[in-house]
Amino acid sequence: MKLDDNFLWGGSIAAHQCEGAFQEGGKGIGIMDLVTVGAYGKPREIHQHMQENSRYPSHQGIDFYHRFKEDIALFAEMGFKALRISIDWSRIYPMGDEAEPNQEGLDFYTAVVDELLTYGIEPIVTLYHFEMPIHLVTKYGSWKNRKVVDFYLKFCETMFQALKGKVKYWVTFNEMNHIDPQTEASDIFTYIIAGLKYSEIEDKKQTLAVIGYNMTVASCLAVEVAHQVDPNNLVGCVFGIEPVYPVDCNPENVLRAFQQMDRDFYQIDAMCNGEFPKYKLQEYQVMGIDLTIDEADQAAFRNGKLDFIGMNYYASSVAEYEGAEDGASALFGGLQNPFLKTSKWGWTIDPIGLRYLLNYTYRKYGLPIIITENGLGAVDEIGQDGQIHDDYRIDYLKDHIIELKKAVEIDQVDCFGYLSWGPIDLVSATTGQMSKRYGFIHVDLDDEGKGTLDRKRKDSFNWYQQTINENAEKLV
Ligand code: BG6
Repeated sequence: MKLDDNFLWGGSIAAHQCEGAFQEGGKGIGIMDLVTVGAYGKPREIHQHMQENSRYPSHQGIDFYHRFKEDIALFAEMGFKALRISIDWSRIYPMGDEAEPNQEGLDFYTAVVDELLTYGIEPIVTLYHFEMPIHLVTKYGSWKNRKVVDFYLKFCETMFQALKGKVKYWVTFNEMNHIDPQTEASDIFTYIIAGLKYSEIEDKKQTLAVIGYNMTVASCLAVEVAHQVDPNNLVGCVFGIEPVYPVDCNPENVLRAFQQMDRDFYQIDAMCNGEFPKYKLQEYQVMGIDLTIDEADQAAFRNGKLDFIGMNYYASSVAEYEGAEDGASALFGGLQNPFLKTSKWGWTIDPIGLRYLLNYTYRKYGLPIIITENGLGAVDEIGQDGQIHDDYRIDYLKDHIIELKKAVEIDQVDCFGYLSWGPIDLVSATTGQMSKRYGFIHVDLDDEGKGTLDRKRKDSFNWYQQTINENAEKLV
């Protein structure tokens, strides 16, 4: 099997990381509008109310809201076949619980999608990428409240109707899989997914299990609605998964690595196998977590199976049994892998991990897979010639695409697209920095929010253009 001629080459962006214009077009306040810029070793702060001397990077983003035509023209110049965008829920339902949607929000996303279609770029639309009206957190307690599932479904249906016939590929959620009652998390981790700081969550295990469950069932119900609105809709969910390797062949460590990696899969099981996994319910029972699944939900799992799986892949991690900080992930400063280099932010660079994960996931579910995010966050310097020579980024992407090709061509994995993360520099989700750049297109903006916002092609721009043009055939 070769990469298909219609292979979806492109990139992924998310509303809160690029749009800015946080008080325009009738938008409400979203959870990420209250998160400050961080720095190395200094986590982002999460505020209850905006404070005058704080900088909240989502407010400006990279001004995609006003510049989307210019940006899409650059994506088209690279030959993009697809662009994954997200809809900021707070642009459509500013508070989340209104009876009617905000027309200006609908108009904005319709204009973005129309612009993509003008260039023949397939829009892939994520309905929840760390974006939720803060009102749903303060008034209803976020996803622990089942009412939020209903508000989400209403929002989804509004979007399915508004973009009917224009958008075929939908994604219900981005990376909900990081919510897990077994894993200790930092505040930002649970906040970006559910608007709740980990340290402030009461009855943590029970609450996180309920949040994870409600989001999972919401995804299944959204799949059903999407298919009812338009049987041509193809619906996936995006998961952020790391392969977890044992630190050595000690069976204790191998077991720990399996357990740590497996935790990220229970929601995929629930969305693909037609029922919420029994092993998870048993695990919850042992932990004293109370979760009952009524008949309506059972039907939701049966009827809302995914059409495809979206996979965000950046890094792998290492686990050990004894002495490990409860299975700490290398991504966030845990055990290092001596065979791999890391990015400046400590994320391992592991192209073979992508092939491993593609094989693992395809064999488990047999569903088509699209790589929805992959990329290198790096500091770019503008050279004396005024250009950005980002060979390190080209190397990273090339090595990953080569492994993806092996997964398709040698291992026969059904992978139908590759979307790089942040094809244009944008705000980092975990740190809020602009200096952690992923793009083929440079944006003149620094961590303090200073800069002209001008766009500039990097060396990787030409490289990706050529790769797409040749359908990666010359990469070896
Ligand atoms: C993914 C998220 O997990 O990682 C993106 O879906 C995020 O929103 C990306 O930007 C890279 O992380 P960061 O922190 O480098 O922006």
